[in-house]
Amino acid sequence: MSTTPVKVAVTGAAGNVSYSLLFRIASGAIFGPDRPVELRLLEVTPALKALEGVVMELDDSAFPLLAGVETGDDPNKVFDGVNLALLVGAKPRGPGMERGDMLKDNGGIFAPQGKALNDVAADDVRVVVTGNPANTNALIAMNNAPDIPNERFSALTRLDHNRAIAQLAAKTGASVTEISNMTIWGNHSATQYPDLFHAKVKGQVAAEAVGDQAWIEDTYIPTVAKRGAAIIDARGASSAASAAAATIDHARDWFAGTAQGDWTSMAVPSDGSYGVAEGLISSFPVTTKDGDYEIVQGLEIDDFSRGKIDASVQELTEERDTVRGLGLI
Ligand code: NAD
Ligand code: LMR
Repeated sequence: MSTTPVKVAVTGAAGNVSYSLLFRIASGAIFGPDRPVELRLLEVTPALKALEGVVMELDDSAFPLLAGVETGDDPNKVFDGVNLALLVGAKPRGPGMERGDMLKDNGGIFAPQGKALNDVAADDVRVVVTGNPANTNALIAMNNAPDIPNERFSALTRLDHNRAIAQLAAKTGASVTEISNMTIWGNHSATQYPDLFHAKVKGQVAAEAVGDQAWIEDTYIPTVAKRGAAIIDARGASSAASAAAATIDHARDWFAGTAQGDWTSMAVPSDGSYGVAEGLISSFPVTTKDGDYEIVQGLEIDDFSRGKIDASVQELTEERDTVRGLGLI
């Protein structure tokens, strides 16, 4: 195990998700209890003062593994030499904004950040996009970083994956540890498809364990897919601690690997698997090891699942066409 600090960039570092995320990274939640980390924190200029306060709290935590913290508003400096970039900062949809407006504003963030990663990140950089619309923001960053292999870019659907496990556990009375092989297909949006036809509860196919197709279609899928909106409604702000926990799970498993026989969900550039157009950043079942992943092959997709996957991929295709029309990719 190397004792050289691993450099982790976090954008939107003064925001709500980061307020949970940074403290977990600094305590070793991604790279384990023996690997020092250096945090490289990016914010917009007006948020740098608030970020100073967060850094004071990081200092005050006296984390043994925290080897250093750099902050700034210039991605070309902050991303210098980073091994992992967690792109959390994004422009959310405001009142009266169309999806196209949001994609345009985010293009102004993720295109320059992709270029900066291309120019100054370490050769082994891995990128996780949490900021919404996560899949298409990752697509923009990837397309602006021609020297970084495409498979280093990913977007977060692990929160959806974790929600899908939690809802299934609640329905079946199983513990979350008794659920395996969950998959989120498609976009991190209300069109996502949590798949109970390959997930297992205590080794039994989840759809059979549940035994109620109407519940799957009318309750389970919408509850998981609209959970983000339900949290915004209840909290008055979007999910933050669970989003940070999922970002940690995603990054940790990418390096540490999935358990034998199990897989996880990551939105990654499609290689054409399961009929998803090549290059779209879409969520798949993946196995991971040492910073690499493989899309699980050979799962049978029935007509119901096919329709759900196609609908979400159609939305991703439309988002890609919008950002292509804006000249962002
Ligand atoms: P927030 O508004 O509290 O924080 C976002 C931060 O990003 C702000 O501090 C802002 O100044 C910063 N920022 C904006 N543009 C930036 C830029 N160009 N460079 C660096 N920083 C920049 O929001 P939050 O609650 O922390 O959420 C962050 C993002 O994560 C949002 O897009 C949210 O929708 C998304 N999110 C995604 C998931 C998921 O599962 N994929 C879950 C929850 C939240
Ligand atoms: C979530 O899933 O909680 C976030 O992406 C917030 C949202 O807009 O749904």
